Amino acid sequence: QNSEILELKHHEKDFRSKQLIKDAIHDNDFLKNLDSTQVREIVDCMYEKKIKQGHYIIREGDAGQHLYVSADGELEVLKSNKVLGKMTAGRAFGELAILYNCTRTASVRALTDIKVWVLDRRVFQAIMMKTGLQRQEEN
Ligand code: CMP
Repeated sequence: QNSEILELKHHEKDFRSKQLIKDAIHDNDFLKNLDSTQVREIVDCMYEKKIKQGHYIIREGDAGQHLYVSADGELEVLKSNKVLGKMTAGRAFGELAILYNCTRTASVRALTDIKVWVLDRRVFQAIMMKTGLQRQEEN
């Protein structure tokens, strides 16, 4: 399993995209306490996905497989078909099911054609584990 931990695949992206992801993580109450090494790895490992207007990115009650950062367009958060809020570019979402191993607490739908940055749950866990191990080695 160690080799899997160390081989975190990076996806190339421009400076502006890296900055947007970094800022989104720092703005998120549940992610802002990650250390800078972890944030840098998340930024490098996220990959791009385009989603068409009207499509659901997350469905309430599902198991969570991905963490997201919105890159453009507009999104809507819904719970039991009620709108909880809207999001535009630069928001991290889908963190709750990834961090707490719970089912999705709300649905997220694209109100326009959008682009999101995606991180797989397994990669997120590998990043947490890798930096945890490095920290142990330093002590
Ligand atoms: P998660 O539960 O994994 O999947 C749905 C996501 O919607 C959730 O993580 C949060 O990122 C987001 N979310 C949940 N509740 C709200 C809310 N009240 N306002 C805005 N975003 C929310």
